[in-house]
Amino acid sequence: MNIPMFPYTQEREMSDADVKDIAAYLNGIELDTQMPTYTGKEDALTKLLMAEKVMIIPRAEGDLEAGGKIYQKQCASCHAKSGRGRGMFPMLVGQYTNYLKRQVDLYRAGDRAHDEEAVGGVLNTLDEKQIQDVLAYLTSIQDPKE
Ligand code: HEC
Repeated sequence: MNIPMFPYTQEREMSDADVKDIAAYLNGIELDTQMPTYTGKEDALTKLLMAEKVMIIPRAEGDLEAGGKIYQKQCASCHAKSGRGRGMFPMLVGQYTNYLKRQVDLYRAGDRAHDEEAVGGVLNTLDEKQIQDVLAYLTSIQDPKE
């Protein structure tokens, strides 16, 4: 038995009117069942944008200009200029900054292999501020409408 949930099974906490309101509300939600038509050429982020499933990641603090320079010089060759990745290279835009930072830390510690390079590769040539600037830059280029 689920002890914390038990009281809720014994007492009705909502009035009949509330239950009806909620039922009406749920009824009124129309779920989109159609998926968009893909051409097969879209990258992962474009597909998410088309399906309107993309999360807009909050802007991270950092020096966008410095981050952009580092990114375009040292990361874009694999993760693409747009940060959307391609093929085996994962997209970096549209992913939570905390998640990306955690991955960077794992790579830098050698706990996860970044590409084929040993111990983080390019990520170990950057200091904490530079990484933060790159992460900030990535949150600034995610919205194709800007
Ligand atoms: C030589 C190609 C290459 C370059 C250059 C490169 N990466 Fe990567 N990166 C990869 C590959 C391949 C993966 C996926 C590895 C894996 O499966 O763990 C990856 C994964 C990542 C991830 C984890 C993404 C995820 O979804 O978990 C982050 C974060 C990342 N790279 C950041 C960077 C940054 C920042 C730079 C520039 C400083 C950079 N990478 C440069 C090849 C590259």
